[in-house]
Amino acid sequence: MNKVLLYCRQGFEKECAAEIAEKAAALGIFGFPRVKENAGYILFEGYQPDDGDKLVRELPFPRLIFTRQMVAVGDLIRDLPQEDRVSPIVAALLGAVKRAGDLRVEVADTNESKELLKFCRKFTVPLRIGLRQAGILLNHENAKQPLVHVFFIAPGHCYVGYSLRNNNSPFFMGIPRLRFPSDAPSRSTLKLEEAFHVFIPADEWDERLASGMYAVDLGACPGGWTYQLVQRGMMVHAVDNGPMAPCLMDSGQVMHHREDGFKYRPTRHNVYWLVCDMVEKPVRVARLMGTWLVNGWCREAIFNLKLPMKKRYEEVSHNLSMLAELLSENGINAQIQARHLYHDREEVTVHVRRIWSAAGGRRDER
Ligand SMILES: C[S@@+](CC[C@H](N)C(=O)[O-])C[C@H]1O[C@@H](n2cnc3c(N)ncnc32)[C@H](O)[C@@H]1O
Repeated sequence: MNKVLLYCRQGFEKECAAEIAEKAAALGIFGFPRVKENAGYILFEGYQPDDGDKLVRELPFPRLIFTRQMVAVGDLIRDLPQEDRVSPIVAALLGAVKRAGDLRVEVADTNESKELLKFCRKFTVPLRIGLRQAGILLNHENAKQPLVHVFFIAPGHCYVGYSLRNNNSPFFMGIPRLRFPSDAPSRSTLKLEEAFHVFIPADEWDERLASGMYAVDLGACPGGWTYQLVQRGMMVHAVDNGPMAPCLMDSGQVMHHREDGFKYRPTRHNVYWLVCDMVEKPVRVARLMGTWLVNGWCREAIFNLKLPMKKRYEEVSHNLSMLAELLSENGINAQIQARHLYHDREEVTVHVRRIWSAAGGRRDER
């Protein structure tokens, strides 16, 4: 297969395209993105016949920021006959995928696709049977084998292909389904919850999101992010001039500091988490996060970079490189990941984990 299909948020196709072109080229894979504005996906077509297969194998999915799912695909299948939609899909997959572990019949995340999604749900059952009969799909779900994706862009028109389990999003359409907790003070709470799901492996939650940990939340009001930390049993220093939701203050786990988040400094040595959702220029936020990490004021950080500007991919890349350089100059070994989450709008969410720190000086940039 020579193409990859990349799902993204509607309106972010250009960012997704700029990113794949750059990251594919860095792997020596050249091609061109096909972009339709507001489609909710893009296609990257490689010049070599197996470039799609190579990309899903070699380009680490967690390194992609604006992509929700990455699938190797062939050419668009057009005009599926109503009397037998299954056979052309089976024919397109034969030879390309064998013994896959499961099937997803999906659409782009747009309003226009909602009707089509109803059809996808119904079509999954006969298609699964057809794929099993052809040996493309195993008879039982298998979480280690590739996933078959059938992606409808219009009635009767779809891309078909596969993603690899160790290099894809585990979620249907690349979107984690989270329920808004009715007692949370703001919908933003879902951003931090989604960030935990995306950045922290489930089997490490008990250790890295543990009860009794100390956390600092910069730009905390009304408290959606603090709510997530409190729910996990943490003690939270919430920094913001605005009012915090009374229910959080009543928990006894929150200390509210009416201060400027850029000037606030931790009062304890054992802060594990720093989270930050201040609406500010990305460069200021990235530098502030660097200061905390370099000085060892936290072990892990999750923060948003707001992107009201036009060149969003360039802005994010520039700030992430600047942060990586700052950490490296100071002898900090860190893992940096960024993702345009489902619950993010004009912003991306970044996660940084300090792995260890060699001896280093202190920096304090305000
Ligand atoms: C998007 S809201 C945060 C929402 C919050 N994460 C939640 O889930 O409820 C941004 C907050 O940042 C605060 N903020 C902006 N600049 C700040 C600064 N320099 N210091 C402290 N807070 C700041 C604002 O007062 C506002 O409450």
